[in-house]
Amino acid sequence: MARPGKKKPNASKVWRALLLWLHIVAAVCWMGQALAVTVLLIISATSAAGDLKIGTILASDLLDQKILGYSAITAAWTGFGLSTTTTWGYFRSRWVTTKFVMTIAQILTGTSVAGAAYPQLEAASLDGKNGASILLAIIAVGLVAAGGAFQVFLSVSKPWGRTRWGHRAQTRGAEGRLAPAPTLVVAGLFLAALVDLAIGLVTGIPLPSVSTAMLVVALVVRRRARTRLIATDAAAGGGRSAADRGSVGSTRVLDGVVAARTQLTDSLVQLRVAVADGSPVSEWEPGAHIDLLLPSGKVRQYSLHGDPEDRGGFDVSVVREAEGRGGSIEIFDLAEGAKVGIGGPRNNFPLVNAPRYLFVAGGIGITALKPMLEAIDHAGQPWQLIYRGRTRVGMPFADELSTQYPDQVSISAADADARPNLDAALAGLPDGSVVYCCGPSSMMDSLDEKISNGYPNLTLHVERFAATARDDSQNRPFKVFLPQTGELVDVPADKSALDSLRSVLPELPGSCETGICGSCEMRVLAGRPEHRDDILTAAEGDRTDVMYPCVSRSKDPLLVLDA
Ligand code: FES
Repeated sequence: MARPGKKKPNASKVWRALLLWLHIVAAVCWMGQALAVTVLLIISATSAAGDLKIGTILASDLLDQKILGYSAITAAWTGFGLSTTTTWGYFRSRWVTTKFVMTIAQILTGTSVAGAAYPQLEAASLDGKNGASILLAIIAVGLVAAGGAFQVFLSVSKPWGRTRWGHRAQTRGAEGRLAPAPTLVVAGLFLAALVDLAIGLVTGIPLPSVSTAMLVVALVVRRRARTRLIATDAAAGGGRSAADRGSVGSTRVLDGVVAARTQLTDSLVQLRVAVADGSPVSEWEPGAHIDLLLPSGKVRQYSLHGDPEDRGGFDVSVVREAEGRGGSIEIFDLAEGAKVGIGGPRNNFPLVNAPRYLFVAGGIGITALKPMLEAIDHAGQPWQLIYRGRTRVGMPFADELSTQYPDQVSISAADADARPNLDAALAGLPDGSVVYCCGPSSMMDSLDEKISNGYPNLTLHVERFAATARDDSQNRPFKVFLPQTGELVDVPADKSALDSLRSVLPELPGSCETGICGSCEMRVLAGRPEHRDDILTAAEGDRTDVMYPCVSRSKDPLLVLDA
């Protein structure tokens, strides 16, 4: 038994934390200085002619012209940088968009109204009078300070849910996702802000020139990363390495090897699976899973629970199920060095933007949720985890999570603790929050029922290990037209669309063939699919652009599929 190799410190998280730190410090300075300028202007306006009137005007000018501009520029551009390098984006959540618009408005107000008034205010104060624009300046700087305070509220409470674009992005799979930025880009944004600060202090002019250039670079890099993400999802395992051994069954797989094995309990093992030729593993996002092709030919799906930035291997955990179909027993018994095939990664359970997150894990289901909550925590967004298992000792990561996040994690074992109060947790969530659940079907079904019946303001996302029961007794035959080949394929009532299509396209991918893995996804060009998979959410039940033909059928006599 060997422990997996020690992970490198996550440089990206460190740089992102530095960027966030600089943003918060600059934003607090900006708000505080605007408040101080407002107070000084009020004192000057209400003072009699003399030193106090002149001194307060000069002091507020000093603050406004010499200091406030630097904190405003730094706060604004580090904020833009955070939006560009995280999955928040600019226009997907109402609170982020509001902050973006307010930031621009505050800078314009501060410079065009208050900043421009000082020459006249100073001249008037020397004559013992109030300048004509002092009231306007007080209101303008006061609004900047109040705007800063309101932005703090927005950052803390993240209200109002998603925008129209945010909702649309949610239903577009990889095309709707924003890829997190690479470490170099995040580091570049942080350093660019410092360089701008240094240049401004030397020249006396606060300008975000280097930060703006770096922001453009970050936007270009993000666009390219998103394109790669879409391609990766589309390929889902195809032709990425010298170790690619082509098609096995109907799923593209890479030659892999068990690089490390850690047995945690009698029935729980952690494996690190690497590409056999030493190539880095593919990029993945929290929520993703891989297919493992076992020596017996069985294919099983496992959620990835390691660090998405660690490209040395995929970390998965497996519970040995004595009453299962044999796959878990086989993988549990694999020794270090054993050869396996790796398909994917694939992500049917992506993170979406929300003001707050509730994660509900049952047993081994924590593996799908762990990278998600780590990403959310790292982004500084509010979340809570309810984690339930049979016995504490058999709950992976229970100690690690409760130690690391004592305030957000609630862990209970069925043999020792009362059931968690899910209703209380759901009732405390603000509108637009999302609930992610992964665990036994009974847990997910009951949560689904609760949310459907009592919490229309929440969205539930589930990841299933096993397909839900389906009634095929009422199946009707239909036809599928494939414009690329010109074939018209009959799908009889007693056969799946995937099996029928394989009679003309034997290489069509498919792994689980029970509607849970997503590997058989096809684009629908015309017709209305009848979704029977466990991948699309209830809200996506009317989608007519995609289907999983291993289980789904057609509402219409004819479907046109892109193959
Ligand atoms: S083969 Fe897994 S969803 Fe269709």
